[in-house]
Amino acid sequence: MNEVKGIISKSKGEPVTVEKVLIPDPGPGEVLVEVKACGVCHTDLHYREGAISNDFPFFLGHEAAGVVFSTGLGVENVVPGDFVILAWRSPCGTCRSCSRGRPWYCFESRNATQKMTLADGTPLSPALGIGAFAELTLVDAGQAIKVNSDADPAAAGLIGCGIMAGLGAAINTGNISRGDSVAVIGCGGVGNAAIAGAKLAGAHTIIAVDIDDRKLKWARDFGATHTVNSIGQDPVDEIRKLTNGNGVDVAIEAVGNPLTYEQAFYCRDLAGIVVLVGVPSPDMKIELPLLDVFGRGGSLKSSWYGDCLPTRDFPVYIDLYLQGKLPLEKFVSETISLHEVEESFQKMQRGEVLRSVVVL
Ligand SMILES: NC(=O)c1ccc[n+]([C@@H]2O[C@H](COP(=O)([O-])OP(=O)(O)OC[C@H]3O[C@@H](n4cnc5c(N)ncnc54)[C@H](O)[C@@H]3O)[C@@H](O)[C@H]2O)c1
Ligand SMILES: [Zn+2]
Ligand SMILES: [Zn+2]
Repeated sequence: MNEVKGIISKSKGEPVTVEKVLIPDPGPGEVLVEVKACGVCHTDLHYREGAISNDFPFFLGHEAAGVVFSTGLGVENVVPGDFVILAWRSPCGTCRSCSRGRPWYCFESRNATQKMTLADGTPLSPALGIGAFAELTLVDAGQAIKVNSDADPAAAGLIGCGIMAGLGAAINTGNISRGDSVAVIGCGGVGNAAIAGAKLAGAHTIIAVDIDDRKLKWARDFGATHTVNSIGQDPVDEIRKLTNGNGVDVAIEAVGNPLTYEQAFYCRDLAGIVVLVGVPSPDMKIELPLLDVFGRGGSLKSSWYGDCLPTRDFPVYIDLYLQGKLPLEKFVSETISLHEVEESFQKMQRGEVLRSVVVL
């Protein structure tokens, strides 16, 4: 058993606290990872707001890179000392989706079987099956993805969630290709990663929409060709003007809100694709004329984790970053200590950062 300090969300809406956490040694198929860096994602805040589930206490942190400390029986994909990014998808290999050759939709993704607990034995719910705002964490071996150790852990860890979600929303789910026009609504870490992904995929026009000019300035750095501040103007009209009245081929919603979803729905050209990568809260609803859903054609997709296959995608994006083709380091707005996670939520809400990254 190992004792570390971890960031815990004890009850809905309350500030997170630093608590003693007990982490078991790895059992069969498990890996104990020494966390080097972990980004603060909006999903961590969703957990602490009770917007994901009510399974408090949550052990937060899930955008992490680190080094394998020890492995349990039967683990073959990594050995102690390997530099890994933690993935919240570890395909089971046997569910209906995996059996059909679509492991990126795995319905039975694996996590460590042993529980991490508070000092009094209360079992923790690790955010997205990880829990990495701590010096050590326990994961299923399939969640530890070995990548090139030349990468800076603070940048590399971001591939473990939000940045992969954005890149994959553009490249895997949106299937963006050369010459496409794209709109990205919401340019936080996820939206800007979608912009970087659209650029990598060869999009011709990339329109960034946000309500914060700072975000739009960053969006330009990641490859947006046009920006629209949607306060005081209708982004759908603006997007149409920028695309000869047509609308875009692919519209990516990276906020998680019915209003912005509707904007994404209507700013598409006929037969265009809408990708929802923002995570809505349980109370949100959307109402659309069914005739518009039918008549506009195309497809309405959601993108869980950018439809990524971590073993396939993580090493590739880390190599693109090391080759200077993907500026992962630009997503790291600041590095912070474990004690500053709560404060970083406020900075995120004020729009001051793309990613605060805890460095351990
Ligand atoms: N699908 C997935 O697998 C996945 C993975 C990670 C995160 N997410 C979700 O993606 C969303 C974005 O995450 P993030 O970390 O980038 O958050 P963030 O807070 O950094 O970014 C959200 C952005 O949306 C902008 N915004 C808010 N309201 C807006 C509006 N009405 N119009 C336009 N822009 C608006 C904000 O200014 C901000 O720039 C969250 O819902 C998060 O939970 C999804
Ligand atoms: Zn499966
Ligand atoms: Zn996340």
